Amino acid sequence: MLDERIRDRFTDLHKFVEPDRVRREVYTDPQIFELEMQRIHETVWIYCGHESQVPKAGDYYTVQIGRQPMLMVRGSDGKVNVLYNRCPHRGNMMCGDRNGNTGEFFRCSYHAWTFHHDGKLRTIPMMESGYAGTRWGKDNPDCSMKRAARVENYRGFVFASLASDGPTLKEFLGESRVAFDDMCDRAPEGEVEVVPNCFRVIQHSNWKIFLENQLDALHPSVVHQSTGRAAHNIEKELAKKARSGEAPLSYHMLSAFATVTIDKWDAFQTINYPHGHCVLTGYMGLRPRDPDTLSYENTLEKAYGKKRMEEILAVNIHHVLIYPGLSVQSPLQQLRAVRPLGVDKTLTEIWHFRLKGAPEAIYRRSLAYYNLVNSPATLINADDLENFWKCHQGLASDGGDWVSFGRHFGRDIEKDGHVESGPNMGTSEAPMRGQMKAWAEYMRGA
Ligand code: FES
Ligand SMILES: [Fe+2]
Repeated sequence: MLDERIRDRFTDLHKFVEPDRVRREVYTDPQIFELEMQRIHETVWIYCGHESQVPKAGDYYTVQIGRQPMLMVRGSDGKVNVLYNRCPHRGNMMCGDRNGNTGEFFRCSYHAWTFHHDGKLRTIPMMESGYAGTRWGKDNPDCSMKRAARVENYRGFVFASLASDGPTLKEFLGESRVAFDDMCDRAPEGEVEVVPNCFRVIQHSNWKIFLENQLDALHPSVVHQSTGRAAHNIEKELAKKARSGEAPLSYHMLSAFATVTIDKWDAFQTINYPHGHCVLTGYMGLRPRDPDTLSYENTLEKAYGKKRMEEILAVNIHHVLIYPGLSVQSPLQQLRAVRPLGVDKTLTEIWHFRLKGAPEAIYRRSLAYYNLVNSPATLINADDLENFWKCHQGLASDGGDWVSFGRHFGRDIEKDGHVESGPNMGTSEAPMRGQMKAWAEYMRGA
């Protein structure tokens, strides 16, 4: 078995990960990638999608979990199921489209076996004459579509684990649940709704490079400086002309990359939790006093009362990373799901959400951030993608064996089961150290 062959080679996996540095093979070795898929992505809770992606019975969305093509489908009983996208007869893929509605049941395009939305076999053409007296038939579970071992939903966000044992979703998420709580609590109705559809970007680099970048607070003022500066110049001109003396908030989303200079990033903080999850505190100031924000706060106050509204809006997060596959920007209702496709090939799906019950203008703000910062068309994303690709190229060379995560090493503060970057050390590489610690634990089979 593949797992055993790899295990023989990597009995000394600890040699690849030290507390402040990691061997380059961790990013480039196809066998390590295979083991990662088995021990991490096909074991832990992986985000499948939001339940509003499949509102009606029969609605389905395809999703990749590790190397497994899966389907998220709404049953006629209202439940969301996660199934392997494979017919149990001769292995045909059940749904070739990315998403759609399968009707009252799934019907395989090859020999017309049909299945209920929960994967159970429904009919086989001429089943009696074809299969009487054989081991095949409705009572044999091998004749049904295989289900993900576990499926759970947290505030509308659906996760699946392909392993039958392990922590519950709530235990696994731990404090990183704040990503979904913060996003949903900001909605006057306490829920969000997905905006169809997503941007899909394929990066020619290892999946971990993307995740490490998410809480890398040093890079924005370097990598995104030119974009930020260009936006800031226009912002100043518009502000001069505007009666309010302020440019539209969307300019601020880009100009912050220039105005928050490299030294200021140290003022923010990273909080690193077990399982590799981490939070970067906010820096943008998302409570301007414009009429749109005031009307939104009014709606929120009506729904929750003043005290609770203040608590909700006081949550100060820029980014939550849920290892190993999710990056959430809750105050702006953005989510990126990371799907490794190969050792040097990674898909990201970039989604955004509507706050149910919030004024349209607040949705437009989320859309602006989605288009200006996270979309594949923006310079911000292009700046990052170029560095991801270049990193992978460098790591594939013989120019050095180690990747360094030494910034502010030894100065992290451990308390109450988590690790914080030290005071005025927001650019610490503590999040990467935390991610690699979790990686090594998973890879050891812990
Ligand atoms: S492969 Fe699906 S019915 Fe034959
Ligand atoms: Fe970036």
